[in-house]
Amino acid sequence: MLTDLLKHNRRWATGKRLEDPDYFKRLSALQRPEYLWIGCSDSRVPANVITGLEPGEVFVHRNVANLVHRADLNLLSVLEFAVETLGVSHIIVCGHYGCGGVRAATDGHRHGIIDHWLQPIRDVADDRSGELEGITDPDIRLNRLCELNIEAQVASLSRTPIIQSAWKRGKKLSIHGWVYGLNDGLIRDLECGRADCGCSHQGEGPEDCEQFRRRDEDDRSA
Ligand code: CO
Repeated sequence: MLTDLLKHNRRWATGKRLEDPDYFKRLSALQRPEYLWIGCSDSRVPANVITGLEPGEVFVHRNVANLVHRADLNLLSVLEFAVETLGVSHIIVCGHYGCGGVRAATDGHRHGIIDHWLQPIRDVADDRSGELEGITDPDIRLNRLCELNIEAQVASLSRTPIIQSAWKRGKKLSIHGWVYGLNDGLIRDLECGRADCGCSHQGEGPEDCEQFRRRDEDDRSA
């Protein structure tokens, strides 16, 4: 029931004020999240809930199958604002196993406009057909494509002019590719991240990169 939502909201707001009388005053005056989350619209993958982040701690953009379309004004506006104005230092592209968008992209049926939206997933599936065709279990194959899609979106994001110019100006900003398991509630780092050093960090997270760490240490000692 809709009225339950409003009732819950009043209880939540009252609880927050009891815990910390200045909570809303502080939040309304300033938003300074460290993270931008680009995730799937799937209702089972809510960014704040699964990462334990409070209001004000993560800037969120979600669309079907967590895609980075080069001409998506919505995503690009969010990205530019997050990088240039909010100054986030981590961008997380988080997809999930069993993604209905990824499934719809490759099930061979016509769904409508969404088929155009999902084209980048079919491109990834074509590029990696050799590996995917070798997987006989359809669920495992779908989940592998979910991972490959996340990796492709991380790569695509890292090539946008917004990110390229931020890195050129020495902005400390890293992009991470994560996958969430609907079955176990766990997030796995796909270790396909990119950082301002431009390395692809095969097998390592961006923070493990020598160049990234050195810059971080320089910043702290400065
Ligand atoms: Co999904």
